[in-house]
Amino acid sequence: MTAIFITATGTDVGKTFVARGLIRALRARGQPVDALKPLVTGFVPDEAEGSDSGLLLAALGRPVSPDEIARVSPWCFAAPLSPDMAARRENRTIDFPAVVDFCRDAIAATPGTLLIEGVGGIMVPLGHQHTVLDWMTELGLPLVVVAGSYLGSISHTLTALDVLDRRRLKIVTLVVSETSGSPVPLEETREVFAQFAGNTEVVALPRLASAKTPHPVFEQIASRF
Ligand SMILES: Nc1ncnc2c1ncn2[C@@H]1O[C@H](COP(=O)(O)OP(=O)(O)OP(=O)(O)O)[C@@H](O)[C@H]1O
Ligand SMILES: [Mg+2]
Repeated sequence: MTAIFITATGTDVGKTFVARGLIRALRARGQPVDALKPLVTGFVPDEAEGSDSGLLLAALGRPVSPDEIARVSPWCFAAPLSPDMAARRENRTIDFPAVVDFCRDAIAATPGTLLIEGVGGIMVPLGHQHTVLDWMTELGLPLVVVAGSYLGSISHTLTALDVLDRRRLKIVTLVVSETSGSPVPLEETREVFAQFAGNTEVVALPRLASAKTPHPVFEQIASRF
């Protein structure tokens, strides 16, 4: 059993895109894989297929049914806001220990590889006292960190690396997923990250036509699990 936590320097950077690519690469190798997106915001039941949970389920070859959505994403909120704000709109709070326990139980029960997608960036609040960083720290899983190649990403990403290092969290791979329309060269961004990332593998993922497009980067990362 291998469990990997997929996080990012911010929202909309490419966590789900990378997770889908990794699922496909693992399945192509014949390796059992499952994926969770425990917390989802902006969730519209009628549009479940396009949600992160729906996209992950499709990559896994599972039906995008209400039962399957509830299995992989027990905490779904309607508002397209950070989880704590979205929960507040529904007069709910996020039970942090329950989120941690849910993941621990799934890790223990999953044969093969389990990918857990975080939510937003590294320090998105999950309530008044906890952030995604605390969630990752509690689980202590190896991380795949996704960053962009937009102007400003270098500072965001180096800040993230420093924070993760202070919590002694281990990064399997830092993936620079090319930001659409960015003037910043992808490979040069990767080289800058590599200069600051110590022994951590840093890979550049170009803009692909779709998440179903195979790319050697997915194979490369999957072979490290
Ligand atoms: N390398 C890439 N090539 C093509 N499209 C990409 C790439 N990386 C990300 N995208 C696209 O960018 C958008 C945002 O990516 P994605 O949904 O994976 O981000 P995320 O980090 O999971 O966001 P969220 O915080 O909402 O979970 C999606 O439409 C995705 O398909
Ligand atoms: Mg996502």
